[in-house]
Amino acid sequence: MLTSTRELLETARRHIYAIGAFNVYNLEGVRAVIGAAEANRSPAMLQIHPSSLKYGGTPLVALCLEAAAASAMPISVHLDHSTSAEAIRLALEAGMNSIMADGSHLPYEENLSYTRQMTQLAHRYGAVVEAEIGRISGTEDGLSISEKEAKMTDPVQAGEFVQATQVDALAVTIGNVHGEYRSEPRLDFERLIRIRQTVGPDVLLVLHGASGLPAGMISRSIELGVCKFNVNTEVRQAYMTMLRSDACAAEKADLVPCMESAVSAMQRVVTEKMQLFGSVQKAHLHQTPYAMMLSHR
Ligand code: 13P
Repeated sequence: MLTSTRELLETARRHIYAIGAFNVYNLEGVRAVIGAAEANRSPAMLQIHPSSLKYGGTPLVALCLEAAAASAMPISVHLDHSTSAEAIRLALEAGMNSIMADGSHLPYEENLSYTRQMTQLAHRYGAVVEAEIGRISGTEDGLSISEKEAKMTDPVQAGEFVQATQVDALAVTIGNVHGEYRSEPRLDFERLIRIRQTVGPDVLLVLHGASGLPAGMISRSIELGVCKFNVNTEVRQAYMTMLRSDACAAEKADLVPCMESAVSAMQRVVTEKMQLFGSVQKAHLHQTPYAMMLSHR
């Protein structure tokens, strides 16, 4: 059932678990996420990165929306990390439930202005908006402690930012990175506590870079209010590893069995994440009249 991102995240937050937002690139990725959601009776988000939107265009969006609508599980469709007003408009027109307006590469004032404009636009469509201040990096290697801290979300600025932009969700940077953690992940939970205090109780908190985060850090983040985790790298790696395996690379290998193996490999990773996020067996909590009422976005 295509469900609003607001309903998914607010229900998860109320019941103290989180929704996995999994980056998908094609039918195999979509099948892996929906398959894991159905096998575990879990809600989930299908998340399209701008690079994948550029490649797949509106047919990819239609695939995600159709797969979500056809599923018995509560699923929403989200545009990840968009720096382009054009892509955001396309996503909203196509019926996606939520977008991330990512101005985190811009100077603060420009980030604020871009995010405010995109929020006004998205709210006209009833869509949820996620934004970021601080800047999540690909890796922290080679950075000094003060450089790392400078990239992290400043709690006071976070409070001003959500107030000025009226975003619904904030992606925090508290030591999380995209891609592989080259050293032991360390999250600054004191900072997360202060961010929650400054942004107020209604803002939905999001943590990117969930690949490779240990269980204890995930559960502590959820206790402190994180209700959405973004996952890409581990799912993609499962796909790529399968493509390189004998089952796919052997001369006699054929396409459909190889795609099925890739779906199974990705589905195993998605299932593990759903278990860590606590969303397994939670689908029934979303199937309320409130969810139905909001389910168009
Ligand atoms: P990972 O690739 O580290 O899982 O991060 C995904 C992400 O945050 C997408 O926005």
